[in-house]
Formats: sequence, C-alpha cells, structure tokens
Amino acid sequence: MRNFETILITGGAGFIGNHVVRYFIKNWESRIINLDKLTYAGNLENLTDVEDDNNYTFVKGCITDTSFLQEIFAEFKPDLVMHLAAESHVDRSIVSPLEFVSTNVLGTVNLLNVAKDYWQKTQPEDFLFYHISTDEVFGSLGASGLFSEKTPYDPRSPYSASKASSDHFVRAYHHTYGLPVVLSNCSNNYGPNQFPEKLIPLMINNIRRELPLPVYGDGKNVRDWLYVEDHVLAMEAIAQLGRIGETYNIGGHNEHQNIELVHQLCDLLDEKLGRPAGSARGRIEFVKDRLGHDRRYAIDSSKIQAELGWRPLVQLREGLSKTIDWYLENTDWLEHVTSGAYQEYYQRMYAG
Ligand code: NAD
Ligand code: DAU
Repeated sequence: MRNFETILITGGAGFIGNHVVRYFIKNWESRIINLDKLTYAGNLENLTDVEDDNNYTFVKGCITDTSFLQEIFAEFKPDLVMHLAAESHVDRSIVSPLEFVSTNVLGTVNLLNVAKDYWQKTQPEDFLFYHISTDEVFGSLGASGLFSEKTPYDPRSPYSASKASSDHFVRAYHHTYGLPVVLSNCSNNYGPNQFPEKLIPLMINNIRRELPLPVYGDGKNVRDWLYVEDHVLAMEAIAQLGRIGETYNIGGHNEHQNIELVHQLCDLLDEKLGRPAGSARGRIEFVKDRLGHDRRYAIDSSKIQAELGWRPLVQLREGLSKTIDWYLENTDWLEHVTSGAYQEYYQRMYAG
C-alpha cells in the first residue's frame, strides 16, 4: 500500500476538494498542500475547521501559471498530486467555453509538465499524479447500459470535451514520459458545501426561500448520484492501491430522473420545515432545456469494487437528508456564497 509524505491537492477549496482536504488531514499523517485559485467556486469558509492544523498549508494560485507551480513543487516536494482544480459547471461551459479550455486543458497540461519535470529531476520513490475526472467524458446513454472503463469517449458539452482532453493528456504523459499516473471518472456528487448552482443545492436553496424550482426540459434526464464522502473514500483507495496507468470508474448505483429527485427534495424539505405536504412541489417549473442536454449517465463500478474493495456506503435518502440538514444549519454560508461576500474577504486576505 502506498503512503505519501506530502500531498498536493489542487482545487481543495471547491466542493469535492474541501472534503478531500478535510479527510486527509483527519486520517493521514501527510502534509497537505491545498492549491486553489479561489474562483467563484472556491471558498475557504469550507475549511475553517481545519485551517489551523499543523499539517495544512493553503496556497493561492492558478494552475496555468508555470513559474508559480515550479515554486510550489520546489518548496513542498509533493509525492502525490491529486488534481481536482477545474471549471466544473456544464451550464457555464455553454456560455464561456474558453475558460474551460484554459483551466481544464491548458491548466492540466501545465501541471502535468511541471510535475513531469520535477519527477524526472528528483526521482522520488513513490511519486503519483492522480487525475480526478468525470463520467461525462463517455457521452450520453439510452434507456439501458452502463459506462465502463472501456466505453469510448464521446464528450458532448464544452465542459466534458475539456475534461476528456485533460484525461487524454494525462494518459499521454504516462505513455510518452512514463509519468506514474492514475485516473478516475466519477458520476454526480452531492453533499454539504456544494455551490448552489448545481441541481441539488440549487433546489434546496430555492425550496427554502420559496422560489421557483426550474427543471430543465421534461425532467426525465437521469443522473447517477453519489454522496461526496463515498467519492473521497474511493479516491483514497485509488491513491493507495490503484494500478499505475489505470482508470477507475466510480458511481453510486443510484440512478434517478431529475424530476424524481426534485420531488424527493420537495417532500423532505416540506417535512423538515414543517410546511404543508405538497407545498414545494407546487413551485416546480419546467423550463427551456439545457443545450445538448445529455439524457442519461450510469456507471459500472465493478472494477474498483473488485480490485480495491470500494463500494458506496451512503443511501440516497440518508445522503439527501444529511445534505439538507447541512444547508438548513448553514444558511450564513448560503447567503455568503450567493452574495459573493466570502470572495471579497478571502481575496483581500490572500491578495498578492
Ligand atoms: P468546484 O467547481 O466546486 O471546485 C473547483 C475548484 O477548483 C474551486 O475551488 C476553484 O477555485 C478551483 N479552480 C478553478 N480554476 C482553477 C485554476 N485555474 N487554478 C487553481 N484552482 C482553480 O468543482 P467540484 O465539483 O469540486 O469538482 C472537482 C473536480 O472533480 C473537477 O475536476 C470535476 O471535473 C471533478 N468531478 C466533479 C463531479 C461533481 O459531481 N461535482 C463529478 C465527477 C468529477
Ligand atoms: O456526472 C458528473 C458531473 O455532474 C460532473 O462532472 C460535473 O462537474 C457536475 O456539475 C455534474 O454535472 P451535471 O450537469 O449532471 O450536474 P447539474 O447539477 O448541473 O445538473 C444535474 C441535472 O439536473 C442535469 O440533468 C441538469 C438538471 N438541472 C440542473 C440545474 C442546475 C435542472 O433540471 N435544473 C437546474 O436548475
């Protein structure tokens, strides 16, 4: 089993990243370096409970900045890079595709290049570059079937095209230079601290505030939902035991049509907020569909289950209930991220 002295986590202030940072600080002895640009999606308020830990360092910077990355590798000498930093929201990629190319493609290649130079120069014993990616690279499924690691790539949104490109570069650096890499492609995550532009936190926030609930198209698109802490456990298993050069699919075996999921959220929130049954459902509005909206995603995660013994532990109802409770207990967080106040504060704190 691999062990690491220093783990460089990119995108650690984002939704999944903050759960990764917290888990590794609490469960590993390693030094954790969180490198994040703090875009609108990066929020250090996610990490106030661990920010004073002796093993934790935050560095603000962009993965497209070569000299900044070279300094970080020279100073901290990471033996594991967990690369999560990305532009992650499909709707934004439809409006501003070039930002996705800049961070997800150019940023990833820049990071690979700096990592490769560092690895070649210093030859650390157990170096690993772990690239965290998405099931959206595989395209869209019909009514049946699952994405496996062998499914050909067929990205259909600017977001998934940028992530597919980054995956190809990671494999190319392994094939061409021998850089030790491992990849995973995961389905839709949900849980605390997710920016409220994504379906589940957006619905929770709008139900809480008695606003309209916008469901795209006919609401019958299917996603495979995974509680974020289950994703973190899968990442830990892959970092420790994943075979070099391999890819692992991660999914929740938890397929639901969007409208079914929104109904569940409505009913759970009505109950938790003590409102009359059916009141939230009454605010559902079917709105114009997302351009190029992928119909169905579903993951075959038998490889990671068989090789690494991972499987999802949190059932959807339990995960949704925990997620809703977190948002209801953290309305300040919601107000801050929707007003942008956290960004002004931390931009000033880490300016220069
Ligand atoms: P997120 O948008 O919540 O967070 C992204 C983080 O990256 C933010 O903290 C942001 O500040 C940082 N970042 C963005 N551009 C940067 C740059 N140029 N340099 C440095 N930092 C930068 O995203 P997320 O949902 O936490 O996703 C994390 C990773 O996991 C992404 O690579 C995403 O593609 C992948 N993924 C996400 C899901 C999901 O359901 N959310 C599922 C599968 C895979
Ligand atoms: O599959 C993994 C991917 O899951 C990750 O790679 C992405 O980073 C992550 O954002 C997520 O992408 P989706 O596009 O599936 O997630 P989103 O929450 O944006 O939308 C989920 C579904 O809900 C999708 O079918 C679109 C629909 N939707 C979304 C929003 C924001 C609505 O119907 N209404 C909405 O307001």
